[in-house]
Amino acid sequence: MAGLTYQLFSIAVVLGAVQPIGGYSFKNCIGDSYSKNFNCINRKEMNTSAIIKDLPPTAINLTISYTLIVHIPKESFVHLPNLRNLRLDHNHLSNIDDDAFRGLNELKSLNVSFNNIRELSPSVFDNLNNLNFLSLTNNSLKQLPRDIFSNLSHLDTLVLGQNFLTNFSGIAESVSHLQNLSVLDLCSNNLTSLSHSNASLPKSLTTLFLCKNKLVKLGCKNRFLGFIQVLDLSQNLHLDSTAFEEVDLSHINDLRLRSTSVDVLTFLNISNVNARHVDFSGTHLNNTRLTKLCRLLRKKGKTIRKLSLGYNQIHNLTNQMLEYCPTITGNLDLTHNNLNSTSCLEFINKQKSISSINVEHNHLTILHSCQFYSNNVTEVSYRYNRILTVFAYAFNSTPNVKTLELNINIIAYLDCDALSGLTSLETLRLDNNILTDLLQCMFRDNHNLKILNLRNNRIAVIFKWTFFNLSSLTTLDLGGNKITHFEESGLDGLKSLSKFYLDGNNLKQIDTSFYHVFQDTLTTLDLQRNQIRFLNEETSSPFRNLSKLSDLKLDGQRPYGLTVLPRHFFRGLHSLRSLYLTHNDIFFLEPDAFDDLTGLQFLTLDNCCVGATQLQPGVFKNMRNLTLLVLENMGIQNFSKDVFGNLTQLSRLQLNRNVMQIVDVGALESLPNLNYLDIRNTPLICTCDNSLLQNWTVYSNVQVVYLYNLLCPHDPKQRFYNFDTKVCYQDVEMYLFISTAVAIFLFTATPLLYIKLYWKMKYGYYMFRSWFSEQWRILREQEENCKYDAFVSYNSADEQWVMEQLMANLEGNGSSLKLCLHHRDFELGRDIVDNIVSAVYSSRKTICVVSRNFLKSEWCSLEIQLASYRLFDEHRDVLLLVFLEEISQRQVSSYHRMRKVMLKKTYLQWPGSDCTNPTQAQELFWNKLRRAMRSGSNPETEEQHSEGCKEENRETETHTSDEKYYLLP
Ligand SMILES: *[C@@H]1O[C@H](CO)[C@@H](O)[C@H](O)[C@H]1NC(C)=O
Ligand SMILES: *[C@@H]1O[C@H](CO)[C@@H](O)[C@H](O)[C@H]1NC(C)=O
Ligand SMILES: *[C@@H]1O[C@H](CO)[C@@H](O)[C@H](O)[C@H]1NC(C)=O
Repeated sequence: MAGLTYQLFSIAVVLGAVQPIGGYSFKNCIGDSYSKNFNCINRKEMNTSAIIKDLPPTAINLTISYTLIVHIPKESFVHLPNLRNLRLDHNHLSNIDDDAFRGLNELKSLNVSFNNIRELSPSVFDNLNNLNFLSLTNNSLKQLPRDIFSNLSHLDTLVLGQNFLTNFSGIAESVSHLQNLSVLDLCSNNLTSLSHSNASLPKSLTTLFLCKNKLVKLGCKNRFLGFIQVLDLSQNLHLDSTAFEEVDLSHINDLRLRSTSVDVLTFLNISNVNARHVDFSGTHLNNTRLTKLCRLLRKKGKTIRKLSLGYNQIHNLTNQMLEYCPTITGNLDLTHNNLNSTSCLEFINKQKSISSINVEHNHLTILHSCQFYSNNVTEVSYRYNRILTVFAYAFNSTPNVKTLELNINIIAYLDCDALSGLTSLETLRLDNNILTDLLQCMFRDNHNLKILNLRNNRIAVIFKWTFFNLSSLTTLDLGGNKITHFEESGLDGLKSLSKFYLDGNNLKQIDTSFYHVFQDTLTTLDLQRNQIRFLNEETSSPFRNLSKLSDLKLDGQRPYGLTVLPRHFFRGLHSLRSLYLTHNDIFFLEPDAFDDLTGLQFLTLDNCCVGATQLQPGVFKNMRNLTLLVLENMGIQNFSKDVFGNLTQLSRLQLNRNVMQIVDVGALESLPNLNYLDIRNTPLICTCDNSLLQNWTVYSNVQVVYLYNLLCPHDPKQRFYNFDTKVCYQDVEMYLFISTAVAIFLFTATPLLYIKLYWKMKYGYYMFRSWFSEQWRILREQEENCKYDAFVSYNSADEQWVMEQLMANLEGNGSSLKLCLHHRDFELGRDIVDNIVSAVYSSRKTICVVSRNFLKSEWCSLEIQLASYRLFDEHRDVLLLVFLEEISQRQVSSYHRMRKVMLKKTYLQWPGSDCTNPTQAQELFWNKLRRAMRSGSNPETEEQHSEGCKEENRETETHTSDEKYYLLP
């Protein structure tokens, strides 16, 4: 029904009866299924309006990025009053008109970063009363108009980094009234001081980023930074300690001074800052100065939460290094210190409360064996070093470590006992090293290990029982290795494994025997980019028992692809939610290949198959939960409704880069929840075969990605959405033309016909009625064997003869025949026509008393016609014609039917008083009539004579030739 309505609608549209309404597709944007999020990215479009004018007012998040727009004209967004987040970053904007943002009263976040804006007009943001976040990062602003933020009373975060701002005073003035501003980012500008004339910063401002400027002095009044908590002054290369004289930093809890000229020891002596809240990264500390710093810190407090010492010159981690420091309870940061050795982190002996140690980005090459220390360290990171060798007991100094990061090194040798004793270890990162062998002993003690990452090493074989003690392991990442096979029992012990990554290895087959260990726990199995290939359809399902598996990746098997998808390959995977089969050169997809995947929500088959593979009807029949189907670049030439049959939940279908020229709208309409269709890069032809598709794409409630940019393959100047389809509807037009013409003809002809053919039509109507009541009549006839012997049809002018002669001679006079007379026997109140019909049919004969008056009476003619119908069409001879007067052939001839009856049938002539012997003639007449009435009604068995004044042998009688005495069979 919907389809029909739609088609009628399409036709109406084509014929111009309905104006096109905005569809669900957009020229330059892609929306989500709720029409709330829109991305207009990577468009070669310079006109802002062209990008956004077709967006609906429901839009809440809008991103316009990587386009060529340079200018935002005024009132560009008035049709999008619900926008909350607007991103205009990474364009070529240089010019934003006043009132460009008019109407955006709901806007909370505006990002105009990474453009070419040199100047802004003072009132450009005036309409954005509710703005919380504004970023102008990476433009070319040299200064800001004084009142530019005057209406942004809700602004919380203002990011002005990476511009050429020089005038801090002006900035301070323009933000001074922003009572909700808490973050101001001015990093990477050209500020030289913080002098500010009379302006003050709002009290709400707690975070001030001033990194990468050219500050030499602060030059601000004593209390100017009094409410600042986070102050980043890093990379102001020429800023030195003296700048802080008399500056109130009492509220600071994070001060960054990296890569300045500040001498922290001097600085801490002259400033009122709480030294425990200073980040000492990049403050030129060497071991000597660190010791001094520690003494100084110790004076200020007994404990310190964290100590950041990155980017310094601390080359040796000595035992005494932190001896004089306050007790460190959190993180010790030693990154970027050119360390060659950790010296077993002996300093922990003096700082047993440290919880995490970071020695990333140093020059460590070996992790030596260490002595056992007891301490609280739970996290250690050695990332980004050059560690080649890890000796036995290397982590003895941190026995309680839970997270150990050894990734991004060049570890080739990990001693069998390297991880010994680390029973608390939960996360071990060994990825991005050059390990070749995993030994059975390596993970012996790590009973609590949950995540083991060995990605991107050079492991070729998994020896038996390697992971035997890892009964808590939930995630094992062996991706990017060179694994060709698992030894028997290689995966034994992995009782809790849930996520198993084996992508990018050299596995040639899927050996089911390994999976039984974790068959009840595995949820993710990644087998991407291996060398799995099937040649035989009969392989049984390797996944059969993985009852919880929800994600399976099999894409990109090298170099040949899976080739064959064995029958029942996915048997039993009822929990599977997502399946990746892309890039696999599968040459045939059986229609039952996916039958067991009843829970699947996400299926991607792009590039899965050899070019000519066609989707078989029913291939997705059980996927009632599928919401996303990716069929890109599969060489699909066509598909039918049967293919998509049961995808009732499908909301997103990607068919781009296929080769179908025609798409059957019925197939798309069989997807009731579809709201996103990608058919880019398909050679859809712009001919009548696609005229319905064209209509569907424009008027259905499905978003067709970049519909208005799809070109006609044979004429790139034409667009698919509006190629000319008028010619396609010519048939319809012809049909409509013909039906209209017929209707008009009927309207004009009917009155004429009514006049000319009134009786023909009326007769036809009664013929129909009589035929209709025939069954009923036959029944009745059988039941009562006819109520009357004869129905007498006569004109009222002849009533006297009927009453005096006919009644008397047939009903009385010992004949006891029963006549039906309309004035006597018709049912009162019944339709006269119904009465006549029932009278004719409940009488064995119909006697027509023909006179000139009779011939003129319409009702009589109906009676004759009913009776003659019985004669001609039922072959029941019921009609008896009695001519009261002499009526010439010429007179009868204008009553065609009557004449026809007369030709076929004999008739009786009433011998009038002008006969020579009327009494005798009349006696004979009655006898004949009685006999005729008693005779059967079967015309074959009966003959009738024309009788009149026998003696006179009138013309009318003799005229009736002999063969006319016999009724036609
Ligand atoms: C809009 O974007 C924000 C942040 O990107 C997101 O948190 C929010 O859910 C989005 N709104 C809608 C309606 O999707
Ligand atoms: C930054 O300021 C310096 C002087 O402090 C000036 O020479 C330079 O041109 C400025 N750069 C820009 C891009 O304005
Ligand atoms: C530490 O640095 C100070 C000054 O930066 C220098 O005088 C001293 O010699 C350095 N000490 C060591 C051990 O490098």
